[in-house]
Amino acid sequence: MEIIQTENLTKRYKRYKKQEGLMGSMKGLFHREYEEKTAVDAFNMTVNKGEFVGLIGPNGAGKTTLVKMLTGIIAPTEGTIQVMGYYPNKLEKAFKQQYAVVMGQKSQLFFELTTEDTLKLFQQIYNIPEDQYKKNKNFFVDLFQVKDLMNVQVRNLSLGERMKMELIVALLHNPKILFLDEPTIGLDAVASRQIRTFLKDVNESKGTTILLTSHYMEDIKVLCKCSIVMNHGRKLYDGNTDLLFEQYQKSKKMTIYFENNADSGIPESCRILEKTKDKLVLEIPKEITEKVLEFYIGHYSIRDIGIEEEEIGSVVERIYREV
Ligand SMILES: Nc1ncnc2c1ncn2[C@@H]1O[C@H](COP(=O)(O)OP(=O)(O)O)[C@@H](O)[C@H]1O
Ligand SMILES: [Mg+2]
Repeated sequence: MEIIQTENLTKRYKRYKKQEGLMGSMKGLFHREYEEKTAVDAFNMTVNKGEFVGLIGPNGAGKTTLVKMLTGIIAPTEGTIQVMGYYPNKLEKAFKQQYAVVMGQKSQLFFELTTEDTLKLFQQIYNIPEDQYKKNKNFFVDLFQVKDLMNVQVRNLSLGERMKMELIVALLHNPKILFLDEPTIGLDAVASRQIRTFLKDVNESKGTTILLTSHYMEDIKVLCKCSIVMNHGRKLYDGNTDLLFEQYQKSKKMTIYFENNADSGIPESCRILEKTKDKLVLEIPKEITEKVLEFYIGHYSIRDIGIEEEEIGSVVERIYREV
């Protein structure tokens, strides 16, 4: 069953174009010129109930703008949107009770309160009955293992801990849809992994439909069966995530920290992305990742090695080259 549907959805921002230099600024006081920026361009998408869909694209692709339209924060310039049968920008109460949105770069929490009091406050805001509140709070606090943090002031939480709290707050009222805009931005690998595990669990155990935007390939690879790739406001790919990786992701990024100032050799067909005296970052064709790993571990004394998914930018480029 379709729970989100957009057709020809478009958002154009008008922004003030500043003229060069001081004279330009002065002129701008009297006569302003505007330029239009199409942030989302004739976008069609469908999400079915219970799905965990990834929306991925480089910075500036239009992801946040799309989420803002889907959650009613801004109105579209053109096109239609339907979320659970509602037009989001009407901001009807019945609609607002049924979804939640978490933005990685914008906190909903109250920094002076403890996390316990913050949760209670949200219980009031959403009018959550006491038994549902207790049940959900215990469920999520357990799942996230954040019992020790309940009496800590929000301002003293680490970024990762704060994101866990943002998610708990968002989920207290049993939303049917959860919109997540870059929830792992700025988090270290461990915290990101915890957040991912948590989200997967929520989607599976509560059946919550989740739309996750990210510019990290890793996020959608682990979580989303289906994904949508966008750039410059347009849709480039919409389909199975495994297929996306198979077709368009050809390399991995490996970061090696050497014990000593090792001037190491580079295996064939690898490309240097960055090199300092004890650190080497390589782009490696994905099918030889293991060989390269063995090579470094076998020949050098290594302090740490990390392997990451290729960046979204390279994947987008490859999609463009093909279409
Ligand atoms: N309020 C705004 N006014 C003017 N331009 C904006 C505004 N918000 C975003 N943009 C522009 O719209 C484009 C898409 O931005 P955004 O939706 O934030 O992308 P993403 O979330 O994928 O990084 C960018 O070029 C950005 O500069
Ligand atoms: Mg964004």
